[in-house]
Amino acid sequence: MKILVTGGAGFIGANFLNLLVPRHPEHTFVNADKLTYAANLASLAGIASAPNYRFTRVDIADAAAVDALFDEHQPELVVHFAAESHVDRSIAGPREFVRTNIEGTFNLLESARRIWGSGNGLFHHVSTDEVYGSLGDTGLFTETTRYDPSSPYSASKAASDHLVRAYHRTFKLPVKLTNCSNNYGPLQFPEKLIPLMIMNALDGKPLPVYGQGTNVRDWLYVIDHCEAIWTVVNRGAVGETYNIGGNNEVKNIDVVHTLCAVLAEQTGRSEESLRGLITYVKDRPGHDLRYAIDASKLRRELGWGPTETFDTGLRKTVRWYLEHQSWVADVRTGEYRKWIEQNYGNR
Ligand code: NAD
Ligand code: DAU
Repeated sequence: MKILVTGGAGFIGANFLNLLVPRHPEHTFVNADKLTYAANLASLAGIASAPNYRFTRVDIADAAAVDALFDEHQPELVVHFAAESHVDRSIAGPREFVRTNIEGTFNLLESARRIWGSGNGLFHHVSTDEVYGSLGDTGLFTETTRYDPSSPYSASKAASDHLVRAYHRTFKLPVKLTNCSNNYGPLQFPEKLIPLMIMNALDGKPLPVYGQGTNVRDWLYVIDHCEAIWTVVNRGAVGETYNIGGNNEVKNIDVVHTLCAVLAEQTGRSEESLRGLITYVKDRPGHDLRYAIDASKLRRELGWGPTETFDTGLRKTVRWYLEHQSWVADVRTGEYRKWIEQNYGNR
């Protein structure tokens, strides 16, 4: 089968491809990515020359380029990861979020409908629990929770989810959706909470905790997310949505304390001095208090469950960052961006 993966040079997309390209030599995976600041082709070094893998630089917000991509590769399955993904960036500058997340998804749906007609192919849309807004102290997000997004990022993802469902209802495009909680693990760009805290701690820089640090996120190891997506692609029902989560709610301040403990253990530094770097800073505007996923539909109907606990996943993650500091240095210094422009600037 020909599989088009969008955004496969980002955090989750690269983990997905690294997992599945070697496992499925019978499928061809085409990775279409714009290579924004969040992408890193070095994340895909292990599969770059695999015979069943291709990379192509494409901006999904460019309708003509998306049409050409579908014409050239004739995918039978699309797994759509590409997005602007960082909430704080969406507050600082929302335009790219509307462009990529809404218009980009729209362009992919239009091209899929054009080449597939009705009833053929499969469009798997990767989305977020943030579309449901914020929970109070109790309750869980289910697949029928009302959409109530708070940030430009989550509003743009909500709009893209609605477009995907509308193409199914109106044009009979075969679609599936997954809405997942916060991921962590190897290859995550160091703007997100966990890698940012790891890298700042290693550099002896402040660990900036928003507000009181009492906001809660439901953390899931990235490979568990990728396995869940593949399970839904293969065995989920067309037109359905599945929530994915780790049943693992942690307050932000507790995430940071645990990271200090794991870092102390793995580097020999003093846990107390690492904790001393914690600095409470101005809260994020519109900061959702709590996310927590009810993933019982996915467990019950498709038998999926996470394999990592927060403890095992976090240890693996810290170890990965300790062993791959040059990966982080590359994405931070801008040398990598320069290389991309020199090598892919004209594509
Ligand atoms: P990321 O920011 O690490 O990577 C996004 C990728 O998309 C990058 O490779 C980037 O170059 C690419 N991209 C951005 N704009 C593009 C465009 N216009 N055309 C083509 N490619 C473009 O994001 P991530 O954390 O890997 O998230 C992947 C998907 O999963 C997103 O749709 C996100 O909403 C969703 N999601 C993320 C999380 C999480 O915790 N990170 C949780 C649930 C859902
Ligand atoms: O819930 C799924 C979502 O999780 C995904 O859809 C998003 O793409 C992904 O970025 C993530 O969104 P969050 O806003 O929850 O992740 P972030 O890592 O930015 O922040 C996690 C929590 O930590 C949040 O409550 C804000 C807080 N935070 C974050 C940063 C970057 C801090 O306290 N300090 C920080 O410096």
